[in-house]
Amino acid sequence: MTAVLLFGATGDLSRRMLLPSLYGLSVDGLLAADVRIVGTARSALDVAGFRAMAAEALATHVAHGLGDQEKADAFLQQLFYVTLDANDQSGYQRLAEAAGGLEQSISIFLSTAPSLFTATIQGLASAGLTGANVRIGLEKPLGSDLASSMRINDAVAAAFSEKQIFRIDHYLGKETVQNLLALRFANVLFEPLWRSDSIAHVQITVAETVGLEGRTDFYENAGALRDMVQNHMLQLLALVAMEPPSHFTANAVRDEKVKVLDSLRPIDGASAASHCVIGQYGSGAVGGQPVKGYAEELGRASSTETFVALKAHVDNWRWKGVPFYLRTGKRLAARKSEILIAFRSVPHSIFGEDVRGMAPDRLLISLQPEENIQMSLVSKVPGLDRAGIRLRQVALDISAKDAFADSRRRIAYEQLLLDLIEGRQTLFVRRDEVEAQWGFIDSIRRGWAENGMEPKPYTAGTWGPSAAIALIERDGASWND
Ligand code: BG6
Repeated sequence: MTAVLLFGATGDLSRRMLLPSLYGLSVDGLLAADVRIVGTARSALDVAGFRAMAAEALATHVAHGLGDQEKADAFLQQLFYVTLDANDQSGYQRLAEAAGGLEQSISIFLSTAPSLFTATIQGLASAGLTGANVRIGLEKPLGSDLASSMRINDAVAAAFSEKQIFRIDHYLGKETVQNLLALRFANVLFEPLWRSDSIAHVQITVAETVGLEGRTDFYENAGALRDMVQNHMLQLLALVAMEPPSHFTANAVRDEKVKVLDSLRPIDGASAASHCVIGQYGSGAVGGQPVKGYAEELGRASSTETFVALKAHVDNWRWKGVPFYLRTGKRLAARKSEILIAFRSVPHSIFGEDVRGMAPDRLLISLQPEENIQMSLVSKVPGLDRAGIRLRQVALDISAKDAFADSRRRIAYEQLLLDLIEGRQTLFVRRDEVEAQWGFIDSIRRGWAENGMEPKPYTAGTWGPSAAIALIERDGASWND
């Protein structure tokens, strides 16, 4: 038998992502009918109340519809609930009982406020919920800097071995992120070009149109750098830049990622001002609707950045001299996450220097809103060309969009929860990776402080402060807007 324990079960993440993901696994027969899913949170609910909440969450958030009502009803019967104050050590015993005892495989999903972390781990230990049969998935935020992240990692390590710990970065559950590895390592075409000889720069954009979404306190203390760059964007960078691992296994992949993270050139007091732009949105319009500025949403002035653009470098042989431009922000012009590989120009143009339509090749890997991989190549425009050849960039669609049109697009958490339940760690972040990520981020934040950098205002619904455009255009490139 198996049990899944969901901490924070009445929260937003659980309603929008976790319960719909577990349901997705259940309807596809990937979650056995005897798996007990035990939700826990502080809210005083009984099992019936939790099932009603879950039914509503599924009705609202399962994108493709509930499908068969019988299956939905059966899934709801697998749900149980225990009211628990994380600081009340006596409550964890009830949790162990609701899970159906300790003689089975147990997967815990923990998304808890950092202040409750140690108490929760102690409670789990006191109820016997830390044995070798238990795996623990940890949702961010796991600290707010290297020191606090190490404290959290130490607290978890006191009760669980690294093999039991599944640190979640939900970007790794996204289909296109995994497809990046297939593209790089299942094709012979790209690897010889995947280096500074052929690549001029890399751009990673994670642009959002949403604002604070009610997460005021959390976001005000985090900001875009810690909310998005520390985790999702550095993971994307590591996957783009890493050497081929010998196998698609947890340690082989993570060994290569951590080498990249360790090779990031620190951005510090000397380079922060020239390598970073930070911004904060003012009022504007997104999707034709007027929206408030950040400070107005917050109710007070703030120096938290809602936008950040960085120019990073990976100091190793492969990436010598190749800038990695990263940008992310809230209330930008469009929602899109993408990686752009900008190749160099051909060494010599046989068509002359000023032939129209000549442009360097580009590989665009789009994560959302559409999953898509596109290679832009230069092609001859059909025609008789008496006045000379005419060229134009055309997109070669190498995505699996149509080839796999019949397979359902899954939520990232479906993959991650299934891997947690079945014990595959490849798509989870190892401690040394998280700590290398924090080390890079802490240095940037110190650099901002040393330079007295404050976020520059930008109008909601635009691509961020104009200085972010200058950051890349200074180098003769431009963002893919
Ligand atoms: C979360 C951040 O980790 O990722 C949020 O805390 C952000 O601020 C979210 O909105 C973005 O995730 P996705 O999958 O919608 O790109």
